[in-house]
Amino acid sequence: MTTLSKKILVTSALPYANGPIHLGHMLEAIQTDTWVRFQKLVGHDARYVCADDAHGTPIMLKARSDGIEPVQLIEEMLSAHQRDFAGFDIQFDSYHTTHSEENRYFSETIYSRLNEAGYITRRVIRQAYDPDAKMFLPDRFIRGECPRCGSADQYGDSCESCGATYSPGDLKNPISAISGATPVERESEHHFFRLPDFESMLKTWIGSGRLQPEVVNKLAEWFDSGLRDWDISRDEPYFGFEIPGYPKKYFYVWLDAPIGYLASFKALCNRENLDFDAYWKPDSKTELYHFVGKDILYFHALFWPAVLQGAEFRTPTSVFVHGFLTVNGEKMSKSRGTFIKADTYLRHLDPDYLRYYFAAKLNNRVEDLDLSSEDFVQRVNSDLVGKVVNIASRCAGFINKRFSNEIGDQLDDPALFKKAVDAGHSIAQAYENREFSRAIREIMSVADEANQYVNNRQPWIVAKQSSSDPELQAICCQGLNLFRLLITWLSPVTPSLAQRSSSFLCCVISGPGQWSNLSQPLLNHRISEYQHLLTRINPKDVEQMIADSIEPESPVTKSHLSDEPIRPEITIDDFSKIDLRIAKVVDAQAVEGADKLIKLQLDLNGQSRTVFAGIKNAYKPETLIGRHVVLVANLAPRKMRFGTSEGMILAASGIDDASGIFVIEPDSGAEAGMGVR
Ligand code: 2FM
Ligand code: ZN
Repeated sequence: MTTLSKKILVTSALPYANGPIHLGHMLEAIQTDTWVRFQKLVGHDARYVCADDAHGTPIMLKARSDGIEPVQLIEEMLSAHQRDFAGFDIQFDSYHTTHSEENRYFSETIYSRLNEAGYITRRVIRQAYDPDAKMFLPDRFIRGECPRCGSADQYGDSCESCGATYSPGDLKNPISAISGATPVERESEHHFFRLPDFESMLKTWIGSGRLQPEVVNKLAEWFDSGLRDWDISRDEPYFGFEIPGYPKKYFYVWLDAPIGYLASFKALCNRENLDFDAYWKPDSKTELYHFVGKDILYFHALFWPAVLQGAEFRTPTSVFVHGFLTVNGEKMSKSRGTFIKADTYLRHLDPDYLRYYFAAKLNNRVEDLDLSSEDFVQRVNSDLVGKVVNIASRCAGFINKRFSNEIGDQLDDPALFKKAVDAGHSIAQAYENREFSRAIREIMSVADEANQYVNNRQPWIVAKQSSSDPELQAICCQGLNLFRLLITWLSPVTPSLAQRSSSFLCCVISGPGQWSNLSQPLLNHRISEYQHLLTRINPKDVEQMIADSIEPESPVTKSHLSDEPIRPEITIDDFSKIDLRIAKVVDAQAVEGADKLIKLQLDLNGQSRTVFAGIKNAYKPETLIGRHVVLVANLAPRKMRFGTSEGMILAASGIDDASGIFVIEPDSGAEAGMGVR
């Protein structure tokens, strides 16, 4: 283990400020936080910065659909995100926002340096324009038929049905996902960053052995297909920073997002009087690491190092890329309840459980990681509770009761203690290389040996033989010292457990440089009364968390704005199985504790029905009372956390909540109880 302290700056990707933090974000935050905590534990001067990614079209449109200013939306999101990360003990040294003065300053500085060095060109391009919404359309906001297979309702850049990629101009019968209008082509001058100028610099940077092998292969593919100029400007209306000297032109969100790393660090420097330039000047001796998901590799391994180099800042020491999170073997899904938000998790479970589970499965490759409910419960209960905490609980009572909390002046088996301390070297190597699953495996193997030791020495038998036997004290001292090693090694992963253990053992566990103090056992030391350190996961809590995460699919008449292809054909007989009735809303109440649900009391001319509808974002409950709706009257009742839903009402909706939810209502004159045919 190196003893020289290094200055390390670490980042994880900036979450967009238009949605909640979910367990996919948490996988990256936990990986990064664990690594940074480890660096601090071995004595390095490591700093972890992040921020909200607050600019761009989706954020502007979401604010618009919520009826608020973008600034209000991003402020609300920022506090929600900070609260969620804190709930998982993610220890940022700075958590900022890209909509900040620091970020404006660095975005302008970088742009003007690139410009002066000749790395920016401007040219007029033709793009899809929505004449109703009066804005240019990002590819994702254009829908139409796939030019290859003809599937309806595909995005402007790729087909979900056949996998083809194309440009929006190739789509057949395109429409704007914002207004439904047919886009027209319009010209506009854009600013481009000349990425091809950096080809040889990037090849050297990539070839220097700093990146994961899978990443190098992926980059080689991109080089093979040729680097192209990168469009870094957007026209108004846009939520972002205006380009100085170019009114109504804005920096593209992906230009100012990574600059947010500098801005967040600058805010930290201002607070703590650190030397910003020492970290960011071209020949900096500090290290810079970005943790990112595989989907944003292109931005971090091509654009970003080139932009930094072109603007005379240092380039990253490395970019650490991870795969995606799946839940129970599948992509996270709202309707299956596996799109789990951080705050939903925290309402049911201890953050250390998830931190441990992710660590136990993470390695340094670009592989997806599956969170499987059963494996999660089993793993945490058997390792953390059954192996680690068990050692403390089996030894503490005797020290507390028989020896007035005094741990004694000797270990029962110093050679075993030394062997365990030595195992720490390889564990440290594993953490350093981000092979967390190996670190955990090796820690658990020491835990197995410690348990074996306690089983062999049987303190409960020794305790029966005498009341203050030094042998009993030495056995328990041995057990607690092994426990201290395990908990210190685990502390980057399970900080709350480490905190509670630190109070119990009355010693520092997570302090800077603490790792190297482990070779000295705790002797002649007083501990405190043992309290429960960690309880087992109750599988019911996991089930409940998943049940709470289910977002009832709003009964949607699929429109041209839907993101799903038209479903397979059905016959008239299939259709006639669905009994649609007109119903009158007699009462409507928001469901407390559910983000989206309204509880509707419906009348079908004499019959009454309770229906939970996921429309709270679009309607104030009281405005629905008295209206007529279309009810799927013969749908099997569905038990939900808040009661049973006896049917569904029809509503139209688009690709997401930002495009609105529209309850379908019959023309006036229709009466409750009428059939729909
Ligand atoms: O993909 C995303 O969620 C982006 N908001 C990540 C930005 S990371 C960085 F470049 F700022
Ligand atoms: Zn297709």
